[in-house]
Amino acid sequence: MQVVTTLEELWAARKQLPEPVGFVPTMGYLHDGHLSLVRCAKRDNASVAVSIFVNPTQFGPNEDLESYPRDLARDLALLEAEGVDLVWTPTAEVMYPPGFQTWVEVTEITQLLEGARRPGHFRGVTTVVAKLFNGVQPQRAYFGQKDAQQARVIQQMVRDLNYPIEIVVCPIRREPDGLAMSSRNTYLNPAERKAATVLYRALSAAKAAFQQGERDADRLRQIMEDTINAEPLARLQYVSCADPDTLEELHGEVEKALLSMAVFVGKTRLIDNMLIGTGKETF
Ligand code: PAJ
Repeated sequence: MQVVTTLEELWAARKQLPEPVGFVPTMGYLHDGHLSLVRCAKRDNASVAVSIFVNPTQFGPNEDLESYPRDLARDLALLEAEGVDLVWTPTAEVMYPPGFQTWVEVTEITQLLEGARRPGHFRGVTTVVAKLFNGVQPQRAYFGQKDAQQARVIQQMVRDLNYPIEIVVCPIRREPDGLAMSSRNTYLNPAERKAATVLYRALSAAKAAFQQGERDADRLRQIMEDTINAEPLARLQYVSCADPDTLEELHGEVEKALLSMAVFVGKTRLIDNMLIGTGKETF
């Protein structure tokens, strides 16, 4: 496994990789959710590249950039064990050299859901992912359904900018009690960790109601909201029952939807989602 930092090192290493190349962009502090993307990429491609970069431009001024967990040695050991071929660990100077002034922005679907609560977040994500794609030049790139809107935004960017890259979206990996795996779960104390299952419980309750015939979008949102509000350590930021393609909020009768939410458990902001009525676990 080759580990590179500069663009020159990346270009030299990239030339040696057997085609097709599958690429998994990450911010590190890897867990089984990340590794499931690596395994999908291994299955479909002749070689696999992973990037680890905590991208400062996608964090808001009051978000957790400074405290975001990092453990490069552990991450590299995990990736080595998965048989990854190339790891790119750019520095902030490599990605954003002095004088940097070019941004990639998806203008519409970024205004909803996460984008509405995290201004500028998706501009940071699309800019860094475009730069990562330009550096690695993969045939396929792997994203988690966990960040459903991010996957949609990247699909839109790839279409709009003619990237010759297939975007593959992989299912959400969960802990045995349903909590979606996330690097941010390490912020939770034991009581908060227990309370954090409320996101999965709320999504599951709405999905069960849908399967029993409940079709009203407002009712489905209400079921999720009531479940979250019953958990004293949780504070709801939003619940959504949205069109899985446009991410627009639905009203009245729904056939299929993306149920999603953001919830503060203590100081930690957690997101989760579930598709209903599409017959699929992912986009
Ligand atoms: P990060 O949060 O490290 O996530 C990297 C990838 O892992 C994303 O595609 C995310 O959706 C996926 N992932 C995270 N938790 C998962 C889970 N429980 N199950 C399945 N997949 C999961 O997302 C980012 O980094 C950044 O925004 C990035 C795309 C790297 C750009 O900076």
